[in-house]
Amino acid sequence: MAGNWKMYKTPADTHVFFERFKPLVEDVEHCEIVICPSFVDLHVAVKETGGTQIRIGAQNLYWGREGAVTGEVSGHMIHSAGCSHVIVGHSERRQFFNESEAEVLRKTIAALENSLTPIVCVGEKLAEREANMTEGVLVEQFVGGIGGLTSDQFAKILVAYEPVWAIGTGKTATPAIAADAHRVLRREAAIRFGVEAARNLRILYGGSVKPDNIAKLMAEEEIDGALVGGASLDPESFSKIVNF
Ligand code: PGA
Repeated sequence: MAGNWKMYKTPADTHVFFERFKPLVEDVEHCEIVICPSFVDLHVAVKETGGTQIRIGAQNLYWGREGAVTGEVSGHMIHSAGCSHVIVGHSERRQFFNESEAEVLRKTIAALENSLTPIVCVGEKLAEREANMTEGVLVEQFVGGIGGLTSDQFAKILVAYEPVWAIGTGKTATPAIAADAHRVLRREAAIRFGVEAARNLRILYGGSVKPDNIAKLMAEEEIDGALVGGASLDPESFSKIVNF
């Protein structure tokens, strides 16, 4: 269960969040919990969660180790800051910062080379869904992106299916729609990396996941977890999702 805080919360807010969130998930054993705050909050988040099972991730990375790349943060830096995960290719980055499949692949490899677990996001836009292009888009994103990994690399990633029309809109994909998309991704994984790798792949669903829809989503065998935006900002609501 992963939370994506996007561009919300200051270090002080982060402290307050974990003070309230930690006791609510202290007994959790059924899943991994990852929270991805903004870069400036990582230090506080890592400190607050030391000695707990909560893991911290970044929301983006640059593929170089260090260098004259103003404004960017490398996987090496993120790992050194105490993070274990990083989101790659979120649709907001694809949309607002023109991230391509090739960049998604490069960033995914950079994350793995720095011992970070990448949460690689894919998903179709509303117009693409309405034009019956969902499957084609997912295949294209798979083939152009994570399809370029080696089998060893592929075994270490998490994939998040996030239909763009469901992100922050209150429109959740029905569990059946999400499961169909996950099946497409798993089929592609099987074609490229084999049946066993496809079976072991964990695919998270993301897009308006809330405490009141998480149980139905998780009831689908194809859905292995959730990437939660808005509802991860509040400790009570995210703990209800974790404890679905
Ligand atoms: P949302 O965002 O839960 O606010 O829809 C999900 C995401 O963008 O990861």
